[in-house]
Amino acid sequence: MFQCFVSHDVSSKLKSKKRAPRTKLARVKQEHHALMDMAAVLYSEREILQRVKGMAWEIEQHYAGKDLVVVALLNGTVMFLADLVRYLDLPLRLDFMGVSSYGKGTKSGKLVFTKELKLDVKARDVLLVDDILDTGKTLSLVTKKLKKLKPRSLKICVLLSKSARREENVVADYVGFEIPDAFVVGYGLDFAERYRNLPFIGILKPKIYDEVVKS
Ligand code: IMP
Ligand code: MG
Repeated sequence: MFQCFVSHDVSSKLKSKKRAPRTKLARVKQEHHALMDMAAVLYSEREILQRVKGMAWEIEQHYAGKDLVVVALLNGTVMFLADLVRYLDLPLRLDFMGVSSYGKGTKSGKLVFTKELKLDVKARDVLLVDDILDTGKTLSLVTKKLKKLKPRSLKICVLLSKSARREENVVADYVGFEIPDAFVVGYGLDFAERYRNLPFIGILKPKIYDEVVKS
């Protein structure tokens, strides 16, 4: 399995946590309503799209001539998936699985499947797409379930990975950005179903989720 960790400088992103989020580097609309809830902008829309294009190119090299089924996990993958598959110049089929974690605040809880696959993936090449690989509990559960369906191959593609928090032995084959241990939102990622529509990825101010945890 090949792995494609990016050489993005995470430490410089971490330093930017101390700065006001409205940096020129981030190229985020200065007046964006959600900026006040962000401790920092981690990746701007332009940086994300550039990276997603690069990931699509890598995926294309591997899947050319194969029987590709992209299986995306709902709901966090919406933005990433929409951009990724548009950049993938390959014939493919697309299906979704729903898995939700019922936890409070930013803590994950019991995992429950909310939507099952419709396509038959037996003897097909499956690319499982998720927004973020955190503890690895979600992708560990989903890959176990998918392997029972006997795909020809199964690879994992995630936009973000927080390696520092890994609890399960899950290795992603395609990783957009390796990020620090912070709770992030935007570009599909949510906190309490909010912020999914932000075009950038930002670190949420801890006071926002602390209020929910206390309530
Ligand atoms: P895991 O099972 O701990 O790997 O977590 C995977 C899921 O938790 C992701 O698909 C997200 O829905 C959610 N998650 C983990 N970290 C974050 C974060 O920083 N922001 C938003 N959602 C997150
Ligand atoms: Mg989520």
